[in-house]
Amino acid sequence: MCGIVGYIGNREAYPIIINGLKRLEYRGYDSAGIALYDGKTIQLCKTKGKVADLEANVEKEICKTGNLGIGHTRWATHGVPNDVNSHPHYSNSGDLVIIHNGIIENYTSIKKELINRGYTFSSDTDTEVLVNLIEDVKKKENVKLGKAVQIALNQVVGAYAIAIFDKNKPDEIVVAKLGSPLAIGIGDDEFFIASDASPFIEFTNNAIYLEDEEMAIIRKGRDIEIRKIKDDSIVAPYVQELQLNLEQIEKGGYDYFMLKEIYEQPSVIKDTFRGRLLADKGIIRLGGLEDYIEKFINADRIIIVACGTSWHAGLVAEYIFEDWARIPVEVEYASEFRYRNPVITEKDVVIAISQSGETADTLAAIKLAKEKGAFVYGICNVVGSTISRATHSGTYTHAGPEIGVASTKAFTTQITVLTMIALKLARVKGTISQSDYMLHLRELDIIPSKVAKALKKNDEIEEIAKVFKDATNFLYLGRGYNFPVALEGALKLKEISYIHAEGYPAAEMKHGPIALIDEQMPIVVIAVNSNHYDKVVSNIQEIKSRKGIIIAVVTEGDTVVRELADYIMEVPNTPETLSPLVTTIPLQLLSYHIALMLDRNVDQPRNLAKAVTVE
Ligand code: F6R
Repeated sequence: MCGIVGYIGNREAYPIIINGLKRLEYRGYDSAGIALYDGKTIQLCKTKGKVADLEANVEKEICKTGNLGIGHTRWATHGVPNDVNSHPHYSNSGDLVIIHNGIIENYTSIKKELINRGYTFSSDTDTEVLVNLIEDVKKKENVKLGKAVQIALNQVVGAYAIAIFDKNKPDEIVVAKLGSPLAIGIGDDEFFIASDASPFIEFTNNAIYLEDEEMAIIRKGRDIEIRKIKDDSIVAPYVQELQLNLEQIEKGGYDYFMLKEIYEQPSVIKDTFRGRLLADKGIIRLGGLEDYIEKFINADRIIIVACGTSWHAGLVAEYIFEDWARIPVEVEYASEFRYRNPVITEKDVVIAISQSGETADTLAAIKLAKEKGAFVYGICNVVGSTISRATHSGTYTHAGPEIGVASTKAFTTQITVLTMIALKLARVKGTISQSDYMLHLRELDIIPSKVAKALKKNDEIEEIAKVFKDATNFLYLGRGYNFPVALEGALKLKEISYIHAEGYPAAEMKHGPIALIDEQMPIVVIAVNSNHYDKVVSNIQEIKSRKGIIIAVVTEGDTVVRELADYIMEVPNTPETLSPLVTTIPLQLLSYHIALMLDRNVDQPRNLAKAVTVE
């Protein structure tokens, strides 16, 4: 994880680096640091804490001058978050300065070797080992920085996006990538480096995304030189035009990104199906799918790999794919899948779901599936992300940047894409009736207005949050399509409020969790109109007879559950198949308000990071 930023050009680097780090804080926020170079003196400042703490320290400790700079916001992997372990790190001579996102797996053996050769270390990090390895190679081989980086990285096992400069070369930064993302913004006579394009979006629309095992030597006033790390061969740069704009990465009047992103859902769901869903004409057109429909239809099974919230979207997809397209689906945690020696054949289609497109476990699962000959389809939000490039084909969710660490709009837009794919396949396969197909197209088309209506209940949900903010445990129950929503509701609550919460299929309650129920236990039950409505009502009765407190998500106009529940959160009537798109809204809002009332940082919950690029 971690976010890295760099600048080389004619402007002062400081404001670019600091603002860039603030935009990348979603990637990690336990410590931060910056190094600035004016050609004479390196100014380096780093601290435990957030970028705002770094800013305060910079004011006290260093000059903010230099046209070259690198900065880092960290999610600790090796060594506790403290000042010393924060990046940037110096080499022993003080000539080289590095920032690093990733993990060097064989750092212990390299460190031993370097210690034998007289190197000393002040931090516990793998990064300090890497910078000294580069220094050692540079001295031993008597080569320039770029060559030393290339040789050193060939000795390294792990993942990295690095930026490094040499005090003796004030016009040059060397960057390299394997596993972790790295974008280079190309300006007029200036270059920007970052983990994603957000730090430099107001300066340039042109960017190069380094591929794995590539490095770049970036010199002020010269063309970028991209090389393969393996053999030092030259690679022609591919400059992309960015589609991001500044507005998308700002809070737009909301106090928190999470709230902004919750409220964006009606419009981003529309963006997800814009030009793809032509409801009146009965057409679904997904560019990435058209050429591969046969692969899906003839697949023995679809295996969905993902993590966290994206995995929950995959669980919803299991219901819709099997229901409509009659293709067997398995949904796997990417982290387990890759280590299980899974049975995968060329007749399998693997769908990888990832908002960030950078999740290390999902990426590793994709690589494994490809090795075994499966066709791999990606559903990502971040355009140009590693997973979107590693898959054979795919569909972007077009939700726009999701900056709040807790995933919200990514979930609903992933489900939107998966719903379109399932409907399309069912149509081609003939496993859905014409009337059902048309009904769902029309219903999907009007989902944004239903999501907007669900959001209007915000004030009522805030009142419910006031009642339960001090609860120490929550249960979330749902059946069928809304079982994954129960899991997602529980995840949202625990990750931003730190209240323990469990999601369960409602019927499983009596196989264990029912023992937890007493008059203190709030139980959120998703009890909207569905084929299982009566069963859910029975589950609610079972809870009531054990004095549990029911907070029910119900369909507008519901009378039965309203009578039984202690609190209700209404959502518009929707076909059960599409109901996760609306039932998830009150659960997002409930978590948001509880977390806020507990004074939690809802955008940056403790210990988490947005893009999990470590295994
Ligand atoms: C939860 C959350 C995480 C992510 C998970 C996968 O709110 O954000 O559980 O869903 O880390 O991330 P992506 O989708 O980027 O692969």
